[in-house]
Amino acid sequence: MPNSALFKPFEFKSIKSKNRIAMAPMTRTMAPNGIPGEANAAYYERRAKGGVGLIITEGTVIDRPGSKMAPDVPNFFGAAMDGWKNVVEKVHAAGGQIVPQIWHVGNVGMAKGWEPSKIDSPSGYIMPDKQNTEPMTEEDIADTIAKFAESAKAAKDVGFDGIELHGAHGYLIDQFFWKELNKRTDKWGGATIKERNAFAEAVIKACRAAVGDDFAIIIRISQWKQQDYEARLATTPDEMTEWLGGLVDAGADILHCSQRRFWTPEFEGSDLNFAGWAKKLLGVPTISVGSVGLDGEFLGAFRGQGSEVAPIDGLIKRIENDEFDMIAVGRALLSDPEWVAKIKENRAEELQAFDRRDLAVLK
Ligand SMILES: Cc1cc2nc3c(=O)[nH]c(=O)nc-3n(C[C@H](O)[C@H](O)[C@H](O)COP(=O)(O)O)c2cc1C
Repeated sequence: MPNSALFKPFEFKSIKSKNRIAMAPMTRTMAPNGIPGEANAAYYERRAKGGVGLIITEGTVIDRPGSKMAPDVPNFFGAAMDGWKNVVEKVHAAGGQIVPQIWHVGNVGMAKGWEPSKIDSPSGYIMPDKQNTEPMTEEDIADTIAKFAESAKAAKDVGFDGIELHGAHGYLIDQFFWKELNKRTDKWGGATIKERNAFAEAVIKACRAAVGDDFAIIIRISQWKQQDYEARLATTPDEMTEWLGGLVDAGADILHCSQRRFWTPEFEGSDLNFAGWAKKLLGVPTISVGSVGLDGEFLGAFRGQGSEVAPIDGLIKRIENDEFDMIAVGRALLSDPEWVAKIKENRAEELQAFDRRDLAVLK
């Protein structure tokens, strides 16, 4: 079978995926007042029934006033946990595995009419040259770390198969990584990525202490930021080792390396992408992502663009070469819950393109 590399199991600690395909985390802002209901559970259940090995949920937030940028982003604490338990049960019954993406947005633009009582931010900057609030105090930082750990524990308690921490795309954890937004001079800041890793490492350690050694912790990271698509935290392999090595040493098991197109090389002189380099340098499992099965990248979706179906031969070659362990698929799965089954059964002519109108519904 030409796709067989994609359909080998992947197992690591508590994660036992029947194949190499993950559903990428995608915020849908459709959990009324932060509580996931039957419509959200059915949405994930359809992807599990369609053959996804590991579902990574949409970003779901910790218990801090400013952890989300809109009211209908799901919570990951309190009353929402019954809703999440229902999601987990439905996905497991359909043969899938599922981890929540645990998130805090930090200092980003908030939805109109949504005004949290407190914005959390390393140095109060929303953009490199624009300060709009106060830096987090020691107390804010300690409470935020504790709330990440509480959510991690809650994930284990309701039966999830692991967790993913959202450390990418210019949100709170990434705001600490990035020197343009982290201008602190205390132990949470510094001139090097190693120093600016401190917050992420503290979050990972607290989560690890809360869930024990055998529960898988994934961290999603990216070079690019929503504030600057060209930003880079690691410009050389050595710098990447310092950055990601610190996260692994703190207790992260799997690195989910976000890029917009999975075929873009990370450093000159090699075809390896971000996840390929991370696996080679750190020797831990990695997940790649970016425009799988589609001809346009995802930021276009927010400018109202659709994407047509594209072949996945290049992806299969990379998986066969063991460059990374899993591939996350975003928009193709948002538009087509049966995308995995169609790939597995070589029903390419039935694959659906990404239609931007699908962003408005939970189909
Ligand atoms: C509607 C939408 C919402 C997204 N929300 C999140 C999110 O909550 N967390 C995250 O890490 N990435 C998020 N992303 C990025 C995706 O996880 C993924 O990295 C990106 O879409 C590239 O994959 P694709 O080209 O297969 O769509 C989102 C993407 C889309 C299209």
